[in-house]
Amino acid sequence: MPLRPILKYPDPTLKRVSAPVRNMDGELHQLLEDMVETMYHAPGIGLAAPQVGVPQRAIVVDVGKDQNGPGLLKLVNPQIVERDGSIVFEEGCLSVIGYTAEVRRASKVLIRAWTPDEKEIELEAEGLFAVVLQHEIDHLDGKLFLDRISSLKRDLYRRRLKKWMREGFPEEVTATSSTL
Ligand code: NI
Repeated sequence: MPLRPILKYPDPTLKRVSAPVRNMDGELHQLLEDMVETMYHAPGIGLAAPQVGVPQRAIVVDVGKDQNGPGLLKLVNPQIVERDGSIVFEEGCLSVIGYTAEVRRASKVLIRAWTPDEKEIELEAEGLFAVVLQHEIDHLDGKLFLDRISSLKRDLYRRRLKKWMREGFPEEVTATSSTL
């Protein structure tokens, strides 16, 4: 099953803290492959396992060379070990329908993670690449970018979403694509 459905806010699975991956077995490799396909299909540049209903610490990201990224990465048990600077970026999320907002994060991060072939790696990331990594690792901790904006903005979005869920989503909303 290559494409997996992406859970949408307010699905409670998105609020769970994901468990560390213990076995890099066939099941994990299949999950990562499916996540890559699901991310490209969305289309997006980052996806975390809990977004497809698997509360495990695995993410896929693809920030291209044109954006100062390394291209496709599959990361297992990623951790931020250092952060520096600050950047404000207009974020959206594949799990949040019809909403984007400015979020402040570290502009540089140092990440430690495992690759699917069981190598421990360190990655330095800056700019958009750093933003995407922080956004995806937040998913593993049960956090959405909505948790990093003011409660006023969040409540406004919640109310709008409730209305859409009741009355139907306007076409311009379903056509909006977020990528994180
Ligand atoms: Ni997201």
